[in-house]
Amino acid sequence: MMKILLIGKNGQVGWELQRALSNLGEVVAVDYFDKQLCGDLTNPEGVAETIRKVLPDVVVNAAAHTAVDKAESEQALSRLINAESVAVIAKETEKIGALLIHYSTDYVFDGQGSHYRNEEEQTGPLNVYGETKLAGEKAIQKLNKRHFIFRTSWVYATRGSNFAKTMLKLAHEKETLSIINDQFGAPTGAELLADCTAHAIRFEKNNKSSYGTYHLVASGETTWFEYANYIFEVARENGESLIIKSIKGVPTSSYPTPAKRPNNSRLCNKKFQETFDALLPDWKEGVRRVVIEVLGK
Ligand SMILES: NC(=O)c1ccc[n+]([C@@H]2O[C@H](COP(=O)([O-])OP(=O)(O)OC[C@H]3O[C@@H](n4cnc5c(N)ncnc54)[C@H](OP(=O)(O)O)[C@@H]3O)[C@@H](O)[C@H]2O)c1
Repeated sequence: MMKILLIGKNGQVGWELQRALSNLGEVVAVDYFDKQLCGDLTNPEGVAETIRKVLPDVVVNAAAHTAVDKAESEQALSRLINAESVAVIAKETEKIGALLIHYSTDYVFDGQGSHYRNEEEQTGPLNVYGETKLAGEKAIQKLNKRHFIFRTSWVYATRGSNFAKTMLKLAHEKETLSIINDQFGAPTGAELLADCTAHAIRFEKNNKSSYGTYHLVASGETTWFEYANYIFEVARENGESLIIKSIKGVPTSSYPTPAKRPNNSRLCNKKFQETFDALLPDWKEGVRRVVIEVLGK
């Protein structure tokens, strides 16, 4: 039976992976506070020891330092979690011949232009988070060729903190909101990411020739402004009464943040769909489900 080590079991994606991986084999799931097996990416040697003890066939790393603004002032911590530990995981998995699955981000790009970026396009992160995630990607590419790196964007889930849940909360508290309308991307559900990861593991078992980096995002595109509008529309359609009356679209420059963010986060997901014979649905499908679930409708 296949043995899978899941690192970061309680994050948005990690939580969904616990469900999605459970029918593939034995899942050993860890987090940074676990006592028996170390899942703390600030302790790379501890994580290496965990890999040597568990001897998994597959390691899925869903843990990361994802606080994009904080990363600007926590560079060393961000680098340790997103790059240095990832390099150690890559080295250890290579030694035992395990498949390594890791998640990366649209923030590895500079966000210029208005096209859908493919996997081979030049990277150029605008912030520390993006730089450290890119360093993690490069370490994996160098150290364990048996890998899938899934770059994704704008992740949401019923569990954890994310834009969709924040908007639903604010819609019950405020009459007006200003939301950024010049950043473009695709909200992608943790559920979809987890299901696609399980699919890719099954696929790899039968056809071992598809390693590499993939853009794994829902189809279509939106802005944060349109995304918020859609969330409120679904909530109202499902009988939720909201305080929010109007939302205003504003440029990124209206919200100065410590970390600079890309304007164009569109990622082309064709390579994933073709390689893994999978359909990535429009972003609205998953968002609709999560809004309904969060509202308990
Ligand atoms: N969220 C997004 O919009 C987004 C976009 C593009 C790519 N991604 C990538 O997708 C992957 C999954 O992200 P996500 O949305 O599931 O993020 P998440 O909900 O923030 O999950 C990350 C998990 O890592 C944990 N963690 C923090 N420090 C750790 C450490 N030292 N050792 C082990 N675990 C640690 C976090 O714990 P705490 O919550 O307790 O800190 C959290 O449970 C990440 O690789 C991320 O970079 C995310």
